[in-house]
Amino acid sequence: MTLDSQNSTYIPRRVLITGGCGFIGSNFIHYLFSLKNKIEIINYDLLTYAGNKKNLEELDYLDYYSFVKGDIRDKDSLSSVFKKFKPDTVINFAAETHVDRSIKDPNVFLETNIVGTNILAILSLEFGVGRFVQISTDEVYGDLTDEESPFTESSMIKPSSPYASSKASADLLILSFCRTFGLPAIITRCSNNYGPYQHIEKLIPKIINNSINREKIPIYGTGNNIRDWIHVFDHCRGIFSALTDGAIGQVYNFGGNCEIRNINIVKRILSCLDISENLIEFVEDRLGHDYRYAVDSSKSLKDLNWRPKISFEEGIDETIKWYQSNEDWIAGLGD
Ligand SMILES: NC(=O)c1ccc[n+]([C@@H]2O[C@H](COP(=O)([O-])OP(=O)(O)OC[C@H]3O[C@@H](n4cnc5c(N)ncnc54)[C@H](O)[C@@H]3O)[C@@H](O)[C@H]2O)c1
Repeated sequence: MTLDSQNSTYIPRRVLITGGCGFIGSNFIHYLFSLKNKIEIINYDLLTYAGNKKNLEELDYLDYYSFVKGDIRDKDSLSSVFKKFKPDTVINFAAETHVDRSIKDPNVFLETNIVGTNILAILSLEFGVGRFVQISTDEVYGDLTDEESPFTESSMIKPSSPYASSKASADLLILSFCRTFGLPAIITRCSNNYGPYQHIEKLIPKIINNSINREKIPIYGTGNNIRDWIHVFDHCRGIFSALTDGAIGQVYNFGGNCEIRNINIVKRILSCLDISENLIEFVEDRLGHDYRYAVDSSKSLKDLNWRPKISFEEGIDETIKWYQSNEDWIAGLGD
């Protein structure tokens, strides 16, 4: 790790990425390689149903990339990775992430998202890393009415689901490590991501996959819930900016400035594919279902010079094409 003396930009050299075989983690690793700056990457992932080594198979034989199968709750295994690779930077993507699964059984969400993050933070302190980035979510803020303004970083933490409360707990834990032990941590909170490599249990890939297969598309309640959508590439750029130019102890929101009702997403995808809306099936609403998400990213614009660049129109067309041409990848997904 070094600090660029002219503008205090943090330059990572050896990055331990946890959860790098998931949707955002694998896109982030591709993004780091695209920078061609010879950052060494250690990807530590348990390969749960959500983790897929195929996302990164072309990197397997490259210098600067190592994969270790392991659990962030396993202190001995993680400790041996710190000893062997001596990372100067940790970015924690590893998590249980599906709200519906957290409603069915919260336990593993508390274990991985809170206890696992605690173990990772303890070892990061012990081994003296220069930066620790905790990848969080706008879901920690709860939801908004139509009239309310988007959440800022100082909005109240008011999670609705066990998933969101486990992420909120991890955020608070990391902030306390920052203050009490001096962990050089930064937290990012992003809105709903879409793009390549997302598991088909999530809304946009599920709509695309079911449409391609002419299967019913289940939509919760009336479909009027609103989400703010951001392309995963924009999120990855934001994470890297927070790592290199963010201030220790700070939280940065990343939003897509793109609020859309769920029903309109389905209609748009069906229309792109020229498929009838008869596939839409309204189902009983999710328990505690958040109505509206929206985040104010002006702090990230001001402090990191970050803004989303990919329009939803462009991003969704590319994403549909990606799923259409990666049916083998879909078939290999775990459940
Ligand atoms: N997907 C979104 O829209 C979104 C938005 C904002 C924030 N986030 C956050 O970004 C992070 C990544 O999300 P994602 O959508 O890529 O998730 P994902 O479910 O696609 O991937 C999670 C990855 O973590 C791994 N993992 C799970 N438990 C583990 C453990 N105990 N030890 C090691 N690895 C483990 C899985 O194998 C998988 O590769 C999460 O922290 C999530 O809360 C996601």
